[in-house]
Amino acid sequence: MTSSLATVSYIGATILFILSLGGLSNPETARRGNLFGIIGMAIAVVATVFGPRVTAAGYAWIIGALVVGGAIGLVAAKKVQMTQMPELVALMHSLVGLAACLVGFASYVDTSIEFTGAEKAIHEMEIYIGILIGAVTFSGSIIAFGKLSGRIGGKPLLLPARHWLNLIGLLVVIWFGREFLHAKDIQSGMTPLIIMTVVSLLFGIHMVMAIGGADMPVVVSMLNSYSGWAAAATGFMLSNDLLIVVGALVGSSGAILSYIMCRAMNRNFISVIAGGFGTGGGAPAAAAGGEQPQGEVVSVSALETAEMLREAKNVIIVPGYGMAVAQAQHTVYEITKLLREKGVNVRFGIHPVAGRMPGHMNVLLAEAKVPYDIVLEMDEINEDFPQTDVAMVIGANDIVNPAAQEDPQSPIAGMPVLEVWKAHTSIVMKRSMASGYAGIDNPLFYKENNRMLFGDAKKMLDEVWAALKA
Ligand code: TAP
Repeated sequence: MTSSLATVSYIGATILFILSLGGLSNPETARRGNLFGIIGMAIAVVATVFGPRVTAAGYAWIIGALVVGGAIGLVAAKKVQMTQMPELVALMHSLVGLAACLVGFASYVDTSIEFTGAEKAIHEMEIYIGILIGAVTFSGSIIAFGKLSGRIGGKPLLLPARHWLNLIGLLVVIWFGREFLHAKDIQSGMTPLIIMTVVSLLFGIHMVMAIGGADMPVVVSMLNSYSGWAAAATGFMLSNDLLIVVGALVGSSGAILSYIMCRAMNRNFISVIAGGFGTGGGAPAAAAGGEQPQGEVVSVSALETAEMLREAKNVIIVPGYGMAVAQAQHTVYEITKLLREKGVNVRFGIHPVAGRMPGHMNVLLAEAKVPYDIVLEMDEINEDFPQTDVAMVIGANDIVNPAAQEDPQSPIAGMPVLEVWKAHTSIVMKRSMASGYAGIDNPLFYKENNRMLFGDAKKMLDEVWAALKA
């Protein structure tokens, strides 16, 4: 392939990636967005492999790597449960970071291209920064994977004087950067490069270890952003324009997503990075902070739930993590269909951080073929709860916790939530009184107009569906 054809292919791939991102911003266009991404990536790979930079001797290596990598990716993607997706994503980010480090070292020892003067300095700076971002992304993502999969505890590790430690690390990195740029040959440049890599790896570990369980989703999206910047840095090292552009796209979209998630959880981005927030995920944090909710809990049966739904005119369903665990989305769809046929206005309210990953609920509902036009964002539907007869909460907890508004001492105070308690009746479907991800009690369960339907979401909904059909 000539170099001009490769350039044209790169431009085409870049346009497809931008269209892909645009498509992914809406459930209705997400499939098309994915398709654009797949085609763009196929063009990018073909143009690179058959481009002017690869010689015939490299094909065997590339094809071998494609087969091994592709097979691992295929098996991992097939095996992974929807609820384990953030772990897989964290693991994949670690690979991008590792690749940036390896490419950095390889570019440094590669003497086939001779750089001199300012060009040499720029190239070495690209290598240094690329390895730095790559190492932080790599070790940070491994720790994030460990925390998300429960292999490492969710409790934030707060070393004494940790901000000072970070500052010292930064100064060390700057100092050895200077040493690296002034090195006379590859051998003498290697020592500062290795020291910086070790410091960056430690920084990545320290940064993510200091972040509590409740902030992990933001961390994963932040590492996603880092992995984009690592890819862009790799692009600079390899003088590959496509990698630079795609890396920048991933880097900036990850940063925007982190910001949106911080807003949805009422967290300040800087304080997330600074760490220290969030419990280990088990112990109720409310005991330490806000008041414990008190009162009586009224439970209902599936039959009574079906009765309430049948008599309602307006129903809002709020799905959460428990719906994903129980795989109850298909029954939710059947119930929705049945109620709509009976003339009930059924809609869905989706919290931006419902479940365990961005868009988690949208993906499940789309999979179950719930029409997009009745699936609304929190901001679009929140003011409709007072005119709603039944708000049905399926396996959600934190995202419908009124303590966020009512208790300034609550660890989630100020987090925007779906105001289900304003509906005429709210029904919460979960197995027990256990807390959710944030580990705090939920006063919603004790409200006078709230009912609890205890049990596995799938089993309970099957019973509700059977009762509705009868
Ligand atoms: P949670 O607050 O985690 O509550 C989920 C509830 O589902 C639990 O209280 C659990 O209660 C119930 N449940 C579990 N398995 C169930 C089953 N088989 N059947 C019925 N219920 C079941 O979930 P949420 O309301 O969706 O809120 C999401 C939380 O996760 C937020 O705190 C958010 O910050 C955090 N988070 C979000 C993300 C993203 S990006 N979405 C990523 C990571 C973390 P029982 O045990 O009593 O059944």
